[in-house]
Amino acid sequence: MRALIVDPDAPARLVLGEAPEPVPAAGQAVVEVRHSSLNSAELYFAGRAEPGTVLGFDAAGVVVEPAADGTGPAAGARVVTFGDGGGWAERRAVDVIDLAVVPDAVDLADAATLPVAAGTALRALWQAGPIAGRRVLVTGASGGVGSFAVQLAAIGGAHVIASVGSAASGEGLAELGANEVVLGPENVGGPVDVVIDMVGGAQLAAAYGLLTPGGSLQSIGWASGEAAVLPPGSTLGRRSPTSITSVYNGAGVTDRPAQLKALLDLVATGRLRPRVSWRGPWDRVAEAADALAGRRLQGKAVLDVTPEPSR
Ligand SMILES: NC(=O)c1ccc[n+]([C@@H]2O[C@H](COP(=O)([O-])OP(=O)(O)OC[C@H]3O[C@@H](n4cnc5c(N)ncnc54)[C@H](OP(=O)(O)O)[C@@H]3O)[C@@H](O)[C@H]2O)c1
Repeated sequence: MRALIVDPDAPARLVLGEAPEPVPAAGQAVVEVRHSSLNSAELYFAGRAEPGTVLGFDAAGVVVEPAADGTGPAAGARVVTFGDGGGWAERRAVDVIDLAVVPDAVDLADAATLPVAAGTALRALWQAGPIAGRRVLVTGASGGVGSFAVQLAAIGGAHVIASVGSAASGEGLAELGANEVVLGPENVGGPVDVVIDMVGGAQLAAAYGLLTPGGSLQSIGWASGEAAVLPPGSTLGRRSPTSITSVYNGAGVTDRPAQLKALLDLVATGRLRPRVSWRGPWDRVAEAADALAGRRLQGKAVLDVTPEPSR
């Protein structure tokens, strides 16, 4: 079958080539992939993986072979899936615990943006606890995870402060629900209860310093690649402790169906809008990767894998 494979000589080290057909385990369905999306971690892995590796966490498509143990949806079901690689292929075998049926009202291309980016944003907000009426700062707010975090925090009733690296990055975030858009945490005008951090480094340190007693910083990513240096005493002497908590939404997460269903329901009702600023056929993956690495995307890039039959 065709797949995007790692090739050290190709632009972005990715090229459309051939890979073996997936061999499903008993609890896995085989899905014909229609769309996938690009995540920054995939650029990291493309730079390091063995030649021939098939990457791709997110994929949406149609079940062509239900799981042999009788679990999961029947053949023909439209599904969105998460896997630790294998999504950038015409077919993927996926654990039924890592998929959800896509409602008719949701486009499969939109569904393909959800598992990693929206799922991680949702998990971070769940970990942060109640957010209604609280001040939530989202760093890296223009990115894949950030664009969903802004929307989900607004849906949860928070006062949302979106932090971006440039005025251009901040465009459109107010329409997604941001009450304030700032150029970096150092420009936030007052304390915050929750930080959803995608950037790490100096932004993490500055954002941590903004926390109210009992507040939490949910550390999703480290896009800056910088060390974070906290001023002496930052972590001391608070009767209601503040915390830095890591967020993980990768392989082995057990509540993924519930997570995906919650997100799909929000998209189906129009409350959550996947923000796609690059879309194209999967053989143009290097172009999408270049835009992602160059911080020129707002939200997500979607790769079209196989044509979707008209509905
Ligand atoms: N924990 C998990 O399970 C999990 C899941 C998904 C993602 N992640 C991680 O979370 C981070 C964000 O992921 P994403 O998919 O949202 O990435 P993304 O789309 O590239 O967004 C990252 C954002 O960070 C900002 N940024 C600030 N400094 C940057 C720098 N030096 N280089 C690049 N971007 C910088 C950029 O906004 P401005 O240009 O406006 O500054 C950019 O929009 C990544 O580190 C990713 O690996 C972790």
